[in-house]
Amino acid sequence: MSPRRIVLAITGASGAVYGERALELLSQMDDLEVHLTISHAATITLLRERGRQINLDRFRVCDLIGRDAENVVYHHYRNLAAPIASGTFRTIGMMIVPCSMSTAGALAHGIAQNLIHRAAEVCLKERRRLVLVPRETPLSTIHLENLWRLSQAGAIILPAAPGFYHQPRTLEDQVDFIMTKLFDQFEIEIGRIRRWQG
Ligand SMILES: Cc1cc2nc3c(=O)[nH]c(=O)nc-3n(C[C@H](O)[C@H](O)[C@H](O)COP(=O)(O)O)c2cc1C
Repeated sequence: MSPRRIVLAITGASGAVYGERALELLSQMDDLEVHLTISHAATITLLRERGRQINLDRFRVCDLIGRDAENVVYHHYRNLAAPIASGTFRTIGMMIVPCSMSTAGALAHGIAQNLIHRAAEVCLKERRRLVLVPRETPLSTIHLENLWRLSQAGAIILPAAPGFYHQPRTLEDQVDFIMTKLFDQFEIEIGRIRRWQG
């Protein structure tokens, strides 16, 4: 039986660490085939926020998470002929982590100018799980309208807004709070992460 596939896109909102951590966790799941794509703007946030020098034309997983991973398949964000651009290529869904307002705007209006937009559009039309982790503040009426439209179309809007009730001590605790929420949406267990027990 072929492994379950999932799409991970990293776009140029602040919070590149969320995308990096999502990839790190997904790359440890042997039963999942991870299809990764990264926007040009994300290379800027990855450099500024994480010190990661990423070359999208010669991308290596180890440049992002410090090691290689056999279950990760990379696609250039301009490659509209990649398999994830087609609904025929079955996946369990897609996460966009973090999701910029620009990408959210394109998705909300059906503008598929790159592979990230197209793969997300495929999820919406095929009624597959699409989870967006937007990061922007404050939100304009346009941002709110776009996110509302996407929610109406079936996307899950999961803002990068970590809670504080689990008494986080580190940045990693805060990031993993969002990861738990994110992976719960796909019913993917990430065992090692401490969960709020009430
Ligand atoms: C350092 C930096 C931080 C940014 N932070 C955000 C942000 O938090 N949210 C957002 O929507 N856009 C943010 N932007 C703007 C996006 O990168 C920009 O809109 C870009 O066109 C998004 O392209 P993409 O959606 O293809 O990744 C930021 C840009 C830079 C350079």
